Amino acid sequence: MDRYTTFAQSGFGRSLLQAVGMPAPVALQRHQTHSPLLRAPVVIGVARNTAVTQALLRILADSQAVVYAARGEGLDNPHPLAKEANVSLGSVSEGEKLQALLLDVSGVSDSSELKVLLRFLQPHLPQLAASGRVLIVGRPPEACAEPKQATAMRALEGFVRSLGKELRAGGTANLIYVAEGGEAQLDSSVRFFLSPRSAYVSAQHVRITANSACTLDWQKPLAGQVALVTGASRGIGAAIAEVLARDGAKVIGLDIPQAAGELQTAMARLDGEALAVDITAADAPKQIAEALKSHGGVDLLVHNAGITRDKTLARMSDAFWDQVMDINLLSEERINDHLLANKLFKKGARIVCVASISGIAGNRGQTNYGLSKAGVIGMVESMAAPLAKHNISINAVAPGFIETQMTAAIPFAIREAGRRMNSLSQGGLPVDVAETIAWLGNPASNGLSGNVVRVCGQSLLGA
Ligand SMILES: NC(=O)c1ccc[n+]([C@@H]2O[C@H](COP(=O)([O-])OP(=O)(O)OC[C@H]3O[C@@H](n4cnc5c(N)ncnc54)[C@H](O)[C@@H]3O)[C@@H](O)[C@H]2O)c1
Repeated sequence: MDRYTTFAQSGFGRSLLQAVGMPAPVALQRHQTHSPLLRAPVVIGVARNTAVTQALLRILADSQAVVYAARGEGLDNPHPLAKEANVSLGSVSEGEKLQALLLDVSGVSDSSELKVLLRFLQPHLPQLAASGRVLIVGRPPEACAEPKQATAMRALEGFVRSLGKELRAGGTANLIYVAEGGEAQLDSSVRFFLSPRSAYVSAQHVRITANSACTLDWQKPLAGQVALVTGASRGIGAAIAEVLARDGAKVIGLDIPQAAGELQTAMARLDGEALAVDITAADAPKQIAEALKSHGGVDLLVHNAGITRDKTLARMSDAFWDQVMDINLLSEERINDHLLANKLFKKGARIVCVASISGIAGNRGQTNYGLSKAGVIGMVESMAAPLAKHNISINAVAPGFIETQMTAAIPFAIREAGRRMNSLSQGGLPVDVAETIAWLGNPASNGLSGNVVRVCGQSLLGA
């Protein structure tokens, strides 16, 4: 926790900051091993019972959450479906703290029905606990047969983005668009968005489509799987390796030969393997392929290695331009192509790339970096369909301000502005990016491909 956030935690600090109109960030709740999905009850509201309602109730039943049903104008009665799913639905008591508000609007067919958002959320929001969650589930606008339904579904994005800015005390609001037939793929995403794992993810929306069913142990979703993480010796990459190992993966951590010592130490802690390779080397894809062959290929590839070489375009050298493009984008394309050509992606493999909000919002002095990171987003969007033919998914995370050596080197005033200019008024931690990657890399996330999820606490940049 940075010093400002620590100060804001004290009674005096909080009162002082509120009195002078400064942001008063709270300590965000983060995942702890063996902690339940939800520490307090979840309230479900349903606009009209659909197959999505059924899937949501089943997920809540499996996760042993305490579930309450909301009643009121515009809300359907989920009790018959709850009975089928073996969930007993209680009702909210006055003053009781709630962990999450889950609203299923998949059955809404017209924007005039969207008042259900107000009717459901308004009475319950005051009871939302610290680091509480609002999750809305609808249908992807582009998959709606009727323009009126597509309009209503598209409207949800603006609602979630605005609500994210209103929530206090570490609360987040997110939106899932699930296509018809994709209900069985909802599980990993609902668990992520409702839990503390999504601590620094707010105002995001993802699309889920149908894929084959996948059952797994939610405590160790990556058991028996091989994950390769580039740039794994420190910072965000080290956190990714740690979280993937926690989730059961055999981790192969890759970093430049100059970081071999650090990498070896980090991997030894995780019972992982160290691979000292510069990803821009001409034979890097071949070296990676060789390392993967003894494992029969890779289940999860995380392209995390990245650098900045900042200069305004007027002062940009060829070397800075080339290094950033080569490490951040071109080497990723070469590695993907080589592993694909050599059939080293295992069945149902996932690729997760680390982009940046600089690739979305742009940043002065970062034309090369913004170009490379927007390129990563382009790669994810354009490769999703061709990779789907090989049963491989590809998604990206776009971190905002994350507390690492990279951001510690930023001059104080700019660093402080970067930290505070988001709805949670604080920087994220490497583990927040890692948890998001673990969700996208979960075998049960096979309904997600082509998504870019910002891990930025709803940064004002590029919002
Ligand atoms: N820190 C942030 O706030 C932030 C924000 C947005 C995006 N990102 C992105 O997150 C990723 C990780 O960033 P970080 O903050 O942990 O940075 P970092 O500099 O701490 O770590 C990057 C790692 O990549 C490795 N690496 C660099 N070039 C390599 C190469 N040619 N071959 C193999 N490994 C190489 C480095 O040795 C290092 O271990 C990067 O892609 C970065 O662009 C970071």
